[in-house]
Amino acid sequence: MRKTASSSRIQPKTYRVKNFGCQMNVYDGERMAEMLSGQGIAPAPEGQDPDLVVLNTCHIREKAAEKVYSDIGRLIKGKKTAPLIAVAGCVAQAEGEEIMARAPAVSMVVGPQAYHQLPAMIDRAVGGARSTNTDMPADTKFAALPRRRKSAPSAFLTIQEGCDKFCTYCVVPYTRGTEISRPISALLNEAELLVEAGAREITLLGQNVNAWSGEDTKGHRIGLAGLIRALAKLPDLQRIRYTTSHPGDMDDALIAAHGEIDKLMPYLHLPVQSGNDRVLKAMNRSHTADSYLKLLDRFRAVRPDIALSGDFIVGFPGETEAEFADTLALVDAVGYAAAYSFKYSARPGTPAATMDGQIERAVMDERLQRLQASLNRDQLAFNAASVGKTCDVLVERKGKFPGQLLGKSPWLQSVHFTGEAAIGDMVTVDLTEAMGSSLGGHLVKDTGE
Ligand code: 5AD
Ligand code: SF4
Repeated sequence: MRKTASSSRIQPKTYRVKNFGCQMNVYDGERMAEMLSGQGIAPAPEGQDPDLVVLNTCHIREKAAEKVYSDIGRLIKGKKTAPLIAVAGCVAQAEGEEIMARAPAVSMVVGPQAYHQLPAMIDRAVGGARSTNTDMPADTKFAALPRRRKSAPSAFLTIQEGCDKFCTYCVVPYTRGTEISRPISALLNEAELLVEAGAREITLLGQNVNAWSGEDTKGHRIGLAGLIRALAKLPDLQRIRYTTSHPGDMDDALIAAHGEIDKLMPYLHLPVQSGNDRVLKAMNRSHTADSYLKLLDRFRAVRPDIALSGDFIVGFPGETEAEFADTLALVDAVGYAAAYSFKYSARPGTPAATMDGQIERAVMDERLQRLQASLNRDQLAFNAASVGKTCDVLVERKGKFPGQLLGKSPWLQSVHFTGEAAIGDMVTVDLTEAMGSSLGGHLVKDTGE
């Protein structure tokens, strides 16, 4: 931890945590919020300026990192008293010193493995000292965080952090560190508390979630499937999901679990990144297009209705038009229910950033458009195939219009519908219309718990 001096400040009474990036940040953001509330700092009411702002940042692509500086600018512009600003998350980890030098308004820089230290850093900031904590101790923050007391119907639970895969384009192994799995006892305990607090669905999170490994009560090694089986025994937990998986860490037990555990939802997010084997090799991905497709076939064999989702990068250094066409062909072969696609973004310090053949922005733009046209077409087709059917929906919140409710189908489609139900109910909805990324319908009945 390093400290530098600035002028002293008043003790913050209100806070706001702003999350960027992935679901892992949403989880970390919730834990930071719980911790701050436990310190007697209240969430700032809507429309009111908070005394303390935590920017929980993402470093995965250039644009995501740039947002941090523009946000800091907005927070201090024209303000007589600017809030205390903490920069957390992966930009903090990767560019902590640069932030401190470039943004004097920032009093705290805290990495994703060190945010349990935030209360002490706030005390120091109030005393006028700026501080940086980007230590990466393995798995100590979880023990130091307060007990879970609140939960939405759909909750996140981080079970694994870090990545040892070193895909050549990716900063995650540098910002989140090496793979660690949280112990099963801590996870069952946190899941029980979340369910007690109202969670009906838990999404297990990890950069390589299917690399999770632990020990059962007899000391036998178990993988993600074993953890899911243990969680499925919690009576009031109705749905289990997990994300994000790596094709190289899939095991037979996890595939089998999709055919055997009703609470495990029929949805798999399995990033492929490219449909071309040369590009995949240059990315240091351990799969080929063919081995990826065969893996998906095995999931479909045990769970024919499984919805598939993936991540794609277009314009990786050296990607030719013919190689990009292989990605389009893979998309056609899979028929994704949903997907995330990105233009390659050179990240400082990663091997791909200095590879020959960096692709022009205009070429990337054009490829991304074509890829997204295919992915959107498939998503709409997937949603359209649900119209005329009924499905279970976990009610998550009220919709924009009076009498409208929002929730998710088992296949992770957003469903908005009309009818009377409480947040957290599992209901049956008649699906009447399909949009690009959601479905519309009306309530049939409450299916209870
Ligand atoms: N450029 C573009 N996309 C990236 N991703 C990771 N690193 C980069 C990068 N440098 C994408 C991958 C990954 C997702 C979380 O973000 O598709 O699966
Ligand atoms: Fe990044 Fe690859 Fe690890 Fe995913 S598997 S976090 S893309 S290095």
